[in-house]
Amino acid sequence: RREPLLAPSLLASDLANIQATAELLATAEADWLHFDVMDGRFVPNISFGLPILEALRPHAKQPIDVHLMIERPQDYLAAFRDAGATHMTVHYEACPHLHRVVEQIKSLGCTAGVALNPATPASLLSDIAADLDLVLVMSVNPGFGGQTFIPHTLQKVAEVKELLLDAGSAALIEVDGGVSRDNAAALVQAGADVLVAGSFVFKSGGGPVATLAGLRQLLR
Ligand code: DX5
Ligand code: ZN
Repeated sequence: RREPLLAPSLLASDLANIQATAELLATAEADWLHFDVMDGRFVPNISFGLPILEALRPHAKQPIDVHLMIERPQDYLAAFRDAGATHMTVHYEACPHLHRVVEQIKSLGCTAGVALNPATPASLLSDIAADLDLVLVMSVNPGFGGQTFIPHTLQKVAEVKELLLDAGSAALIEVDGGVSRDNAAALVQAGADVLVAGSFVFKSGGGPVATLAGLRQLLR
């Protein structure tokens, strides 16, 4: 099967040196740069937003994968596109008019993803699956880096995979939260196309370049 894309999450990086991190990752086994936006409302934490994305953009060599953990994402889509987003993912739980939001993201020229919290069933995506470019399966409750992977996520990935096949959707499946060398191969086996990893990449020792290379090797 196809090798998964690797998307290091900058949330776990040294945020005082985001330029240096982007330059380091430019030659690493990193396909996308995952950018976690938290508003302190949808999730119980605040991370960073538009000005930091703008600061990152000129130094980023890979597409920027913006994960919007915010209420009313529809109010900010154009601003995030203008600041440098390539891929934009909103949460199912934050969007009563999800179809409209997905169409808005696509009309801005970005790829459109929808994220599911651990307690949100895959089946709720059945009527929108055909319109999506990406489904983000959260393998922790969003809001913080460094949490423990929730094992039943593996089953959820398989369910999303089946749902996408049934809908004839080519959407990628991304997994985010507690991803490491301990679960990466099983996630890919279950159907994951994109693996996000924060703490494992930046904080497990050895540095991001070697850790990503090791992960790539493991999945080859
Ligand atoms: C969690 C974020 C994740 C986070 C992952 O709310 O969406 O992207 O950065 O961090 P780790 O890999 O440490 O769980
Ligand atoms: Zn994320």
